[in-house]
Amino acid sequence: MTVALWREQAYVNGAWIDAATSRTFGVHNPSSGEQIARVVDAGTAETEQAIAAAHAAWPAWRDRTAKERAAVLRRWHDLMLAHQDELATLMSRESGKVITESRGEVAYGAAFVEWFAEEGKRAYGDVLPSSARDRRLVVIKQGIGVSAAITPWNFPLAMITRKVAPALAAGCPVVIKPAAETPLTALALAALAEAAGFPAGVYNTVPTTESDAVGKVLCAHPLVRKLSFTGSTAVGRQLMAQCAPTLKKLSLELGGNAPFIVFDDADVEAAVRGALLSKYRHNGQTCVCVNRILVQRGVYDQFVARFSEAVAGLRSGDVFDPAVQVGPLISDRAVAKVSAFVADAIAHGARVVCGGRVRGGRFFEPTVLADATPAMRIAREEVFGPVAPIFAFDTEADAVAMANDTAYGLAAYFYSRDVGRCWRVAEALEYGMVGINEGLISTELAPFGGVKESGMGREGSKYGLDAYLEIKYLCFGGI
Ligand code: SIN
Repeated sequence: MTVALWREQAYVNGAWIDAATSRTFGVHNPSSGEQIARVVDAGTAETEQAIAAAHAAWPAWRDRTAKERAAVLRRWHDLMLAHQDELATLMSRESGKVITESRGEVAYGAAFVEWFAEEGKRAYGDVLPSSARDRRLVVIKQGIGVSAAITPWNFPLAMITRKVAPALAAGCPVVIKPAAETPLTALALAALAEAAGFPAGVYNTVPTTESDAVGKVLCAHPLVRKLSFTGSTAVGRQLMAQCAPTLKKLSLELGGNAPFIVFDDADVEAAVRGALLSKYRHNGQTCVCVNRILVQRGVYDQFVARFSEAVAGLRSGDVFDPAVQVGPLISDRAVAKVSAFVADAIAHGARVVCGGRVRGGRFFEPTVLADATPAMRIAREEVFGPVAPIFAFDTEADAVAMANDTAYGLAAYFYSRDVGRCWRVAEALEYGMVGINEGLISTELAPFGGVKESGMGREGSKYGLDAYLEIKYLCFGGI
């Protein structure tokens, strides 16, 4: 089955609609700055309509068996893979992600749908030992209800599926607010959801530039029982405050400041490959990208030399060229931020080993800064761009202390061949995810999420379903 993926309207209650205000907004190609589409600018009215439709659709969707829901999810998954190239092309055009990574993201995003289609069948309850002879104590799990997803531009497809696949599998209808930068991929996913056969109202997508107003409706509306957000810590804090009056259940996947530690006993070549993957995935624009590279003095010069050589060899340019590894940054604001971080680091004594400059438009050279110190902004804040600062350390204890010296706790990585050290450091790092001799750890099979100011809740894996389930205790008396 071939589905037309180019959509410019909002998808609400099984229909493609315009905004009551008739407003639209432009979607731009980050590589060239050209406008590539105008999309319906849904507002609070359309969002409320979507919530009402989702609530009305809830009982019938909830009452299907998990196996029946899984069949629809499975069709959605298969349609995504059947349209992998078209989805990847849309994604690269609106987000500036290089085409090989966009294809990879379609497969990654579809994998969450496949996983949760199956996992929904395993929302097991419990029978508890009874407190009395004439009582039986039972625990069942039930879908939480209408679930809202606010998703980012850096993973226009996978961050939607990672949130809504478990919701849908658990019997919960969804309302999605995609990032204003990347609505086309989100709307294409909605077209595939429609073709897969989700009943009207179960799957809704409201593209908007009115993020604050629409976000407030999703947070404050009493019929929305769950909100899941991926984005910055600052916005996560705001949403949490707005959800407080209705005590809405929350999953927050927020910012990071990922350390990448290379010990003297590491396989340095493997560490170079891992750091390259982790740092330059989507041009440094993921929450789990390495933000600080910490290298023990014994291998510092060797690592700096080998890593810089590899970074200098990265190809940037046309995102549709399969040989290109690095695309543009998402916006002029991102270019200004990355430039300011580099200038600040240089002012504080960093040595530019490669890159360091804007190369035209939104392309920033893949950059390595040696001799980084904690006084630099880049040591404390997420750069979200292709800049790798390298710090030196002396002991294992120093490395752990430096790595944990941040308010964030999403992902951390380290390289060592000492098995004792691997356990010690993995346990000591205050992070939700740790890559040990691995630079790329995301998979639908494992729990994704952070501690401290990187958020709460876990997505993906068997734990990801719990976010959309409530536990109910049943006490049977008079037996
Ligand atoms: C993110 O950057 O928010 C997600 C990254 C991933 O899933 O690997």
